[in-house]
Amino acid sequence: MCSFRVVLPVPVTAGLSRLAVALDAVGAMATTIALITGANKGIGLETARQLGARGITVLAGARDEARGVAAERALRDGGADARFVPLDVTDAKSVRQAADWIDTEYGRLDILVNNAAIARGGPPSGTDLDEMREVYETNVFGVIMVTNAMLPLLRRAPAARIVNVSSEVGSITSMTDPASPLAQMPAGLAYPSSKSTLNMITAMYAKELRDTPIKVNAANPGYTKTDLNRNTGFRSVAEGAEASVHLATLDADGPTGILWGHLWTADASPDAYGTLPW
Ligand SMILES: NC(=O)c1ccc[n+]([C@@H]2O[C@H](COP(=O)([O-])OP(=O)(O)OC[C@H]3O[C@@H](n4cnc5c(N)ncnc54)[C@H](OP(=O)(O)O)[C@@H]3O)[C@@H](O)[C@H]2O)c1
Repeated sequence: MCSFRVVLPVPVTAGLSRLAVALDAVGAMATTIALITGANKGIGLETARQLGARGITVLAGARDEARGVAAERALRDGGADARFVPLDVTDAKSVRQAADWIDTEYGRLDILVNNAAIARGGPPSGTDLDEMREVYETNVFGVIMVTNAMLPLLRRAPAARIVNVSSEVGSITSMTDPASPLAQMPAGLAYPSSKSTLNMITAMYAKELRDTPIKVNAANPGYTKTDLNRNTGFRSVAEGAEASVHLATLDADGPTGILWGHLWTADASPDAYGTLPW
């Protein structure tokens, strides 16, 4: 994807609206605009960093203002054209305001990375329904709410990309195949099933949008060292973000409606990437 944007040394909280509009009038469609949810830490922050390093303007969504401002500063210090966007994916008002702000500032959105998620819960027999609902509010309903709010902006882009950050633990095939390393994992319910649902959501958006230039795919970061797993993952965030960045920057002949990323199979090399079974 081609991109161009002038990065100015401006304060992070400065009123950039008119300046950005003026620059976009010059840069017009040459600038690629990406929104990443949950971009204040972990794989989301690294995805924003990697997209920013490609010259893409990154809108770093975060539900906490202090954490969002800190992420914007870190990304800008690293050379990215980054802006913090207040965004709690479970809050309809927050999602609406973020969409309105992007509309006012840029008039369109080229890339949406639905990255924000939470992990909670134990075995199926001990499932607390309130906890289950909490996980689905973020990992499932939040994705639908953000995607539908952003779709009018994504439709205005020449060839938008939607990336839903899923997981291999959402692959029913991998979790139940006795030959898969994932089959050895203890049975959990809330988080794995939320990602299985996200996989179907990905497939259905791809189906609905298949006659448009918009591609919708699910990314599997692999087991990555972040707060989500109390930093027990064996992959770096740089590796974990690769799948999202790859799917966010697919060419016109790239796939839509797949789960792609790190392959954790008995016979795959540790660095293998590819399409995972649903
Ligand atoms: N780490 C892994 O091994 C692994 C493997 C497979 C898939 N994934 C997926 O990768 C994605 C990123 O996870 P991570 O490992 O980077 O986890 P993380 O370090 O815990 O980061 C999660 C991010 O989501 C944000 N978030 C949570 N609830 C939110 C809400 N309601 N609104 C907005 N943002 C919210 C968090 O913000 P706060 O700081 O405010 O909490 C944080 O920025 C997730 O979709 C996860 O399921 C991770």
